[in-house]
Amino acid sequence: MTKSYLEAAIEIAQEAGKILIEEFSRPVDIRYKGDEVDLVTQADKRSEQAIVSRLTKYFPEHAIAAEEGTGHESASASEFRWHVDPLDGTTNFAHGYPCFSVSIALAQRDALLAAVVFNPFYKELFAAARGEGATFNGKKIHVSKVATLSTSLLCTGFPVRNRKASANLQYYGEFTQRSHGVRRDGSAALDLASVAAGRFDGFWEFGLNKWDTAAGVLLIEEAGGRVSDFEGKAYHLGGPVILATNGLIHEEMRTAALEISRRAPPLKR
Ligand code: IPD
Ligand code: CA
Ligand code: CA
Repeated sequence: MTKSYLEAAIEIAQEAGKILIEEFSRPVDIRYKGDEVDLVTQADKRSEQAIVSRLTKYFPEHAIAAEEGTGHESASASEFRWHVDPLDGTTNFAHGYPCFSVSIALAQRDALLAAVVFNPFYKELFAAARGEGATFNGKKIHVSKVATLSTSLLCTGFPVRNRKASANLQYYGEFTQRSHGVRRDGSAALDLASVAAGRFDGFWEFGLNKWDTAAGVLLIEEAGGRVSDFEGKAYHLGGPVILATNGLIHEEMRTAALEISRRAPPLKR
């Protein structure tokens, strides 16, 4: 059952990926969602339109939560909900930096069932189905075996809204000093997929939305990693902070994060 959801998600992510690649070769028409750096392009909209219409065709009973707002609740209030980010990494996309992805996940109430993160430029497809493991271009993947924070490579991201209120620069600085380094790649979905594939050992970010993290969370869980908040409680989609690691450095990162938060200004989205 789960398998066919995953197959559909893969097919749809690849279809959306084609649209993104088409748009990537054209001059970008950037619009702003607010007064800061929250960009939206024709590519976000076209990709979402393709994903929502195909999901609706295949699963008319399912609800769809999609970033650009064209999703829908199902008439029968289905317990199945798709979380869709049609273009994660819009800022990279708009600047011609090919680190962006399509992120699609299906949840049944609180349980994530199927997940796909696809970078169409590098043709990198990360996929997972609950209980069946995670794959990268069809091959099984596992989180890294790096066991200490001081020897780890980390990743984080910064919000596109209320940037001045974000405490994350403080965490960025401190984790940079306590690890081999902290990358800022600009696509949270790919950042999480990279933890699942063992490219990064840990990732944290404040204020991410459900569509940013839903697919990545299942990928990490199925690849043997761990996801929580800074208190060690279960991460709920859309929660104020996510900590996602290979499991081995989780407690060390968590303790460090709590230490930093005692010195940093209150956590803001
Ligand atoms: C953004 C990216 C980025 C993260 C931001 C997100 P978008 O998503 O995932 O890495 O740092 O918080 O908003 O706007 O490109 O879909
Ligand atoms: Ca996003
Ligand atoms: Ca997006």
